[in-house]
Amino acid sequence: MSKIRKAIFPLGGGMGTRLLPITKALPKEIIPIIDKPLIQYAVEEAISAGITELIFITSRNKRIIEDHFDSSPELEKYLIDNNKTEMLSIIENIVPRNIKFSFIRQSKPLGLGHAILSAEHIINNEEFAVILADDLIDSKIPAIKQLMLIFQQTNSNVIAIQDVSLEDVENYGIAATQKYPKIKNTEEISSIVEKPTRKSSPSQTAIVGRYILKPDIFDHLRIITPDIKGEIQLTAAIISLLKEQKILAYRYEGQRFDCGTKHGIFYANIYFGKKYHGFNAINKFIE
Ligand code: G1P
Repeated sequence: MSKIRKAIFPLGGGMGTRLLPITKALPKEIIPIIDKPLIQYAVEEAISAGITELIFITSRNKRIIEDHFDSSPELEKYLIDNNKTEMLSIIENIVPRNIKFSFIRQSKPLGLGHAILSAEHIINNEEFAVILADDLIDSKIPAIKQLMLIFQQTNSNVIAIQDVSLEDVENYGIAATQKYPKIKNTEEISSIVEKPTRKSSPSQTAIVGRYILKPDIFDHLRIITPDIKGEIQLTAAIISLLKEQKILAYRYEGQRFDCGTKHGIFYANIYFGKKYHGFNAINKFIE
């Protein structure tokens, strides 16, 4: 069975309206949690899971993300000249030497499915990962690695899931699932509804932004009908793929923050600040 080597990072095609005004000039993936932008957490998760080819789907106004993963000769020279070796190694490690980066420009914001379809020529008939950087997940085993382990055991598509509150179902793809007794915390998806109303939601089991997909998904992305906004939804292609292939859902272990929302960013900063930076005085500022 082939190893997952490639990951696609779709850089939100939308306007980031939920995070305005910060997203007026900044792409949401560059928003920091303490000292690292969201996209760097996502890249570190992929690299620590053993992925070596990173494919970013970018668009106009996202150049700053390419710059973040490019070398910075003036800054590096300054850090060397001033003997700031710890900072130098932090900067150099943003782009480890054995990792390949590619950037594909999505000329029109035609949806998550369209973004993924635009990477087909680089994926080249292999299984691959998709990581949505605004779903920030802190876990012992990188979340995408947890899905890769299920893929290795089953050779099936695997998607991360978690339960959400009823008020929240309208922000996610919501899955109906059946038990998959062979592997712990794993279910088999029978249908998905993208952003249902509370009344029409098949469950409270939400799709989280981590996917391991077989390249057959591209055949479905090519033929599905765009939604009412004219967007090609990944969920629609997954529903179409369901008719032919098993799609497993995995209840990953970890703490997720929805950094597509202001409260998610706020809580992530507190959590990461306390856990990884020793910022323990937070209680002083909270009544
Ligand atoms: C996308 C998917 C949705 C999924 C969500 C996870 O929605 O379309 O099915 O639940 O990511 O974050 P978006 O957040 O891009 O609107």
